[in-house]
Amino acid sequence: MTLRHFLTISDFTHDELIQLLDRASALKALRGTSEHPKPLDGKSIAIVFEKASTRTRLSFEVGIHELGALPVTLISKDTQLGRGEPIEDTARMLSGYVHGVVYRTFGHDRLERLAQSSTIPVVNGLSDRFHPCQLLADLMTVRQSFGPSLKDVRVAWIGDGNNMAHSWIVSAAVAGFELALACPSGYQPDAKILADARARGANIRLVERPEEAAEGVRVITTDVWASMGQEGEAKERQDAFSGFVVDDGIMERADSDAIFLHCLPAHRGEEVSASVIDGVQSRVWDEAENRLHTQKALLEWLIA
Ligand code: CP
Ligand code: NVA
Repeated sequence: MTLRHFLTISDFTHDELIQLLDRASALKALRGTSEHPKPLDGKSIAIVFEKASTRTRLSFEVGIHELGALPVTLISKDTQLGRGEPIEDTARMLSGYVHGVVYRTFGHDRLERLAQSSTIPVVNGLSDRFHPCQLLADLMTVRQSFGPSLKDVRVAWIGDGNNMAHSWIVSAAVAGFELALACPSGYQPDAKILADARARGANIRLVERPEEAAEGVRVITTDVWASMGQEGEAKERQDAFSGFVVDDGIMERADSDAIFLHCLPAHRGEEVSASVIDGVQSRVWDEAENRLHTQKALLEWLIA
């Protein structure tokens, strides 16, 4: 079998992405029944964290267990990797023990180095550049609301041009939906990621105001103003991002059946109002749950 990694959504073709999302829905339906498969029976999968996590850790540990495998979670600061052991040596060692590795880190180059020296599949559990596992869950949630075709959906991103924004941009190219992003000046997404997506035919607009992005869309999504590793910039970001808030006024611009998504954790009163995230249009708890189903489909695909 060819070795495949999942570092960004574009590691899948459109058809593969749809197949994977279909499989996630099937696994959701089978959960807790005697029909649920255990395609990773007897295997072991490492999950390595260089940043904090609640959802990613829980959803991978539970999902790996449900697929029949053993999850082994390593918190980097308690490991030799955290004391400076080379990533390449870590990759070679992991390849001898486990059948796959999920890695959450800072620089995306660290993930690429791990993948290059691994003989087992490597999954991006979040880097400063991308968070593709979150997008699998987000796209499953969008399909639950609007049906299987992602091509008819219009999405608005409001906020930081960060790892989540980049993941939506790449997904727009792969899945074929229309995307508008409103980001404060100085916090735009990476120009090359944007150019690459457009070169693949993606319909993506950068607009100045959140109201413009939200006009007529079916999905409104956002993320924290300061991501992990940017804690020192929190004050200047609060100033720059004031006005980039998903509140009731923004939701009213969207389609009447529009949904709100957020990868979580959220800061009520900053990027989103409590009335929106706790309101009837919010799908954030389905979205969080869908991490489990989509990642099970992903691991089955890559490893089984
Ligand atoms: N959305 C997400 O990845 O959450 P965690 O940081 O809790 O894993
Ligand atoms: N952009 C956020 C996402 C957290 C799931 C971060 O990187 O901290």
